[in-house]
Amino acid sequence: MTIKDIDAGAIRADASAPAIHPQFRSRWSARAMNGDTVSHETLETLLEAARWAPSCFNAQPWRFAYVSNTDEEWSDAFATVMEGNQRWVAKAGALIAVASRRTYEESLAPSPTHTLDTGAAWMSIALQAQTMGLVAHAMLGFHPQLARTNWHVPLGFDLHTIVAVGYPGEIDDLHERLRDRETPSDRKPLAAIAQPGGFDSFEA
Ligand SMILES: Cc1cc2nc3c(=O)[nH]c(=O)nc-3n(C[C@H](O)[C@H](O)[C@H](O)COP(=O)(O)O)c2cc1C
Repeated sequence: MTIKDIDAGAIRADASAPAIHPQFRSRWSARAMNGDTVSHETLETLLEAARWAPSCFNAQPWRFAYVSNTDEEWSDAFATVMEGNQRWVAKAGALIAVASRRTYEESLAPSPTHTLDTGAAWMSIALQAQTMGLVAHAMLGFHPQLARTNWHVPLGFDLHTIVAVGYPGEIDDLHERLRDRETPSDRKPLAAIAQPGGFDSFEA
């Protein structure tokens, strides 16, 4: 069975919740990929979606570096991924490193929103990938210092995540410990994360 056979939208369907566009429940972070190369052209399509994310003052603090699995930089990029993730990232077709400037370009004042803005841009990558039938799976599991070196992250930039991008693969080809986890996850109920009027019902 490939992950193409998994209908996350159907698994996550919830008639008691407000109706939303199907793209939100259909997106999920699969791991089973088939190793086919994701071309620069395809990656640029994902990043074009990211380009249109909103940001405070339209500062667009996000920066992306990308490597397809046939590029000469692939082995250095792959080495920055932690071993647990390498088990499945080995079949990714590309990696995208997501970083952002900590300061505004003109004033050089600290940007309080560069991480929030860049999170929005990452979600655009994920949703665009979903519409194209691609896997896009973000990772915090990378070696921070090695990643700064191998991805040539400039001083003054934070590296937030490395995203594995690939074409859907067979669940049986995953490492055995990952096979059972290859299913769309659930979420907290809406009332547990959103309340009218104020935050007073939420516990720290
Ligand atoms: C910033 C970030 C870092 C993540 N790091 C990892 C990771 O290192 N390894 C991994 O397998 N999944 C990682 N994930 C995937 C999350 O576990 C996943 O998004 C979450 O469980 C919700 O599942 P879904 O994306 O399938 O809806 C990460 C996700 C995000 C957004």
